[in-house]
Amino acid sequence: MKRCCRFGSLLVLVWCSFHGGHVAAQSRDGTPHRDAESRDGMVVAVSPDAAAVGAEILGHGGTAVDSAIATAFALAVTHPAAGNIGGGGFMLVHPGDGSPAVVIDYREKAPLAATRTMFVDNNDARTHPYVGVPGTVRGLKLAHELYGSLPWSDLVEPAVALARNGFTLHEGLAGDLNRQLSRSSNDEFRRVYGKPDGTPWVAGDRMVLSDLAATLQRIAENGPAGFYAGETAELITAEMQAGGGLISAEDLLRYRARIRAPIRSRFRGYEVLGPPPPSSGGITLAQMLGIAAQFDLRRWGRWSVQTNHVMIEAMRRAYANRAMYLGDPDFVTIPRHLASGDFAKYMAGTIDLDRATPSARLGPPVTEPAESPQTTHFSVIDRDGMAVSNTYTLEASYGSGIVVRGAGFLLNNEMGDFNRRPGVTNTQGSIGTAANEVRPEKRMLSSMTPTIVLKDGKPYLVTGSPGGRTIINTVFCVTLNVLEFGMTARQAVDAPRTDHEWFPDRVRFMGADDPEHAEMVEQLQRLGHAVVDTNSQGDANTILVSDGRFIGAADYRFGAAVAATGSDQ
Ligand code: DON
Repeated sequence: MKRCCRFGSLLVLVWCSFHGGHVAAQSRDGTPHRDAESRDGMVVAVSPDAAAVGAEILGHGGTAVDSAIATAFALAVTHPAAGNIGGGGFMLVHPGDGSPAVVIDYREKAPLAATRTMFVDNNDARTHPYVGVPGTVRGLKLAHELYGSLPWSDLVEPAVALARNGFTLHEGLAGDLNRQLSRSSNDEFRRVYGKPDGTPWVAGDRMVLSDLAATLQRIAENGPAGFYAGETAELITAEMQAGGGLISAEDLLRYRARIRAPIRSRFRGYEVLGPPPPSSGGITLAQMLGIAAQFDLRRWGRWSVQTNHVMIEAMRRAYANRAMYLGDPDFVTIPRHLASGDFAKYMAGTIDLDRATPSARLGPPVTEPAESPQTTHFSVIDRDGMAVSNTYTLEASYGSGIVVRGAGFLLNNEMGDFNRRPGVTNTQGSIGTAANEVRPEKRMLSSMTPTIVLKDGKPYLVTGSPGGRTIINTVFCVTLNVLEFGMTARQAVDAPRTDHEWFPDRVRFMGADDPEHAEMVEQLQRLGHAVVDTNSQGDANTILVSDGRFIGAADYRFGAAVAATGSDQ
């Protein structure tokens, strides 16, 4: 089985075996490679096809950023639940040449016509007003201008080919599409993503996305102008007008991705880099690690009640601050002390080791709106030590469910990440704090937490996850597993995860029903924690660097894959 792809006049064999020394993201029987080692570069992503595209770019001398761009465009084809050109995200880049790491903020923005109260009477997140101005194409182009080496069109072409020639559906995607199709009321979604003969998709079917291929081709040829202007922009604005959405031609033309400095914190001598606002991820993770650093968790052990109590109390405190203070820094002043070591020490001092702190004691009861667990994270590293940690999303699974007529791609529903009912903060699902209210051209608060941990200034751990607000806790768990408990990449990714978000005042623990953890869960309950089981949390596609070797661990939870380039020695 082989698939070919053009790079100038060079035809590149993608589908050779990993042990043959090049690129493969899955075995011949279709099982994704979940682990790989390489000294030459690697991509860990949810879709085997997309991971293979990214690794192929590395194999042709592309930088980690080139590879990330190609992976992101390929995911927009092969992982429609979250891969996107109609959404937004955050890319953290450690350039590896001594220059400082940067975050490329390509978060969506509210349209110019947005108003503070626009969602008070509209709870339907699958409607056009929920669509934010997409940021992905501008974000990827900015990344390319800063750190790319291969021509832009070479990075988009593999996605064009996947969409035009088709790709093979695996069982999970076939089932997911069938579920979406059965509940979709969007005619264009059903036309574009439905099986042409009207029967349900089954594993092994080939999906061709012709309109998407044409849109991607315009992006390949014209860069952002192929999306934010010309035919694609006209199709987006026509879609908005037909569905009562707010995005105008001016909104599209005005959208810019931003370069931001990462949040930097230290944990046991490692430096931890994460995204700044408008993502809450970096500051919240820094607080949790800062609190954890005040205790000797290693001595207590990963599955002791003390460790888990401290982790939960750290989450509770950091998430309370998240809800109260964080929003788009162009619109709100973020207190400077939040990510400081002194503040973490202060918060650690408020933890009672013998008792859970009732969340209400940290502020008025708040239950934030539910967030769907779809988004996707991928990690990339190249042989020169450039590392990319990228999380991007359509918000809900398949976003708004709206496909732009004639353009073949899904639109986000990211406006739902704003506090939708100003001043209304209650236990039934509203949070109305001011920092994250809707304003024209404001970016909505995110939890996406692409993370890079440096050891002696070099990438040591590259990780991140989907999962709405659970994202930051997933990254906290994986990071602690490696940095504090010395787990391997595989162990750190596989370990059960914990989630507490201040409100609701309860702990979700993936291993709560597992006899192995029964005693610890019982002890947590005795301390006053309400612990419930959760089936799954996150999809942390991770790379660990050990003695110059890149060790990729794809998360088993969503069937992710590792593709490496070069040898596995
Ligand atoms: O930006 C955010 O935090 C959310 N819109 C991400 C949504 C998400 O992760 C859903 N699930 N994975």
